[in-house]
Amino acid sequence: RSFRERVPPLLTDLYQFTMAYAYWRAGRHQEHAVFEIFFRDNPFDGGFSLLAGLDDCLLFLRSFRFTEEVEFLRSVLPPATDPAFFQFLRDLDCSGVTLRCIPEGTVVFARLQVPLMEVAGPLAVVQLLETSLLCLVNYALVCSNAARFRLAAGPRRKLLEMGLRRAQGPDGGLTASRYTYIGFDFTSNVQAGFLFGIPVAGTMAHSYITSFTSLEEVRPQNGDLVDFISLTKGWLSRVCELLGAESGKVREGELAAFLSYAIAYPQNFLPVIDSYSVSSSGLLNFCAVALALCELGYKPVGVRLDSGDLCRQSVDVRCVFRCCSFSIPAFGSLIIVGTNNISEQSMAELSWKENEIDVVGVGTHLVTCTKQPSLGCVYKLVEVRGRPRMKISEDPEKSTVPGRKAVYRLLDAEGHPFLDLVSLAMETPPEAGVPLSCYPLGCDNSAVSVTPAQVISLCQEMFVTQPLCSAAETRAKVQSSLQTLHPRHKRLQEPDSYTVALSDRLQNLVAEIQRGSSDDSNCVLAN
Ligand SMILES: *[C@@H]1O[C@H](CO)[C@@H](O)[C@H](O)[C@H]1NC(C)=O
Repeated sequence: RSFRERVPPLLTDLYQFTMAYAYWRAGRHQEHAVFEIFFRDNPFDGGFSLLAGLDDCLLFLRSFRFTEEVEFLRSVLPPATDPAFFQFLRDLDCSGVTLRCIPEGTVVFARLQVPLMEVAGPLAVVQLLETSLLCLVNYALVCSNAARFRLAAGPRRKLLEMGLRRAQGPDGGLTASRYTYIGFDFTSNVQAGFLFGIPVAGTMAHSYITSFTSLEEVRPQNGDLVDFISLTKGWLSRVCELLGAESGKVREGELAAFLSYAIAYPQNFLPVIDSYSVSSSGLLNFCAVALALCELGYKPVGVRLDSGDLCRQSVDVRCVFRCCSFSIPAFGSLIIVGTNNISEQSMAELSWKENEIDVVGVGTHLVTCTKQPSLGCVYKLVEVRGRPRMKISEDPEKSTVPGRKAVYRLLDAEGHPFLDLVSLAMETPPEAGVPLSCYPLGCDNSAVSVTPAQVISLCQEMFVTQPLCSAAETRAKVQSSLQTLHPRHKRLQEPDSYTVALSDRLQNLVAEIQRGSSDDSNCVLAN
């Protein structure tokens, strides 16, 4: 149902095909190989990240097949390429590929050594998958970004995602709407509502307001409507009088726009009120139309502020609402929506600056991840034909940890995760209540002993055919996963770093391979 369903197999880098051909020529294309996806650091200088994109990976693997694309490949690969290779490509699919991964929507503590997804299968096939899989998971970044905006906003305020027009292309826009739903309540993106069932919201832009110039444009002018217009005019005089405002400054075009919208949607009246001046026009016009609606038995919804100092204006607007509530108590609690280039920082300000904003709309800073535009996920070979592979780099940050791994989350007695243990997949899992020794990363190779109150195995076998999570399921998953996390790891600024440790055996393997004493034939994993 998503337009992700058909990520075409050519949406990859050419070198995947040149390598696949060279493997095929060497007769190695069927060798069993294992790759891992991981990223080096939590984004946004945060203490955690969220994993997303796995469903898209499953969809990609399901449909991975070459048909007429093969002719194009024939034209771009060197003429010396053996024609039989193209037949090999036509016969390929992902039936021999298995995935083990941390489930969609899980909180993770990214480190170089923590595998988020393991892709295993015939060497040529799993190599060909690299770029497309990375492209599918890297933008999961926006999921972590949305979680931060939610933490900054606190649990109660309603959040609207409205970034489509600023997003990185149509696919970026749709992905952003889908992933940010983990921390948001609505999207403005109708296609995202259609495809993923995310609640959609929105009313009007300034263009709608400025397109009106006079009350003559309010249609149709039948008897009832004349009443509505005159009722509104009556309320406008009362409101101006009450607030000591000059009725001469009130824009007639704006009043016409509000009236016309209220006629179209008497139950959903929520106009943008800053087209001209909030205090000397928009707010007065709103109160007049809304009070007339109330008199006719309808319930107006609220207003949107889209410029200036949102906090201060929202306080002024609330004050006027209370003043104008006359005998209508609900008038004081109308909704105030704020949308003005909201960043994580301005969202956080709402929790300590006085304001009356009920709903916040966020666009650019959310969907484009202005604070950090790339997650930097990588895909590294860790095993071929049952032998661990490791990339040793002069830059220790770029070395990889060899072998197939398992990741366990250890919880303390209060149910908070306190340590993620990366071990070899063949090791016996840690047990609740049993002390274990391990090597925390970044702690000069000294071992510590810990006793978990509870152990969760994070990596799960995924079947290419398994049912996918809905946007609502992922949202619930993320929220419960974040709930268990200790607040010190969720702090937006300078969070306490979460401990990730290697098992004794994995630590030994790394040391052995670094010393060069573990070659292919005597490796501990060879059996
Ligand atoms: C939006 O906010 C950013 C900083 O958060 C600022 O650099 C940028 O100029 C603002 N854009 C507009 C249109 O106000």
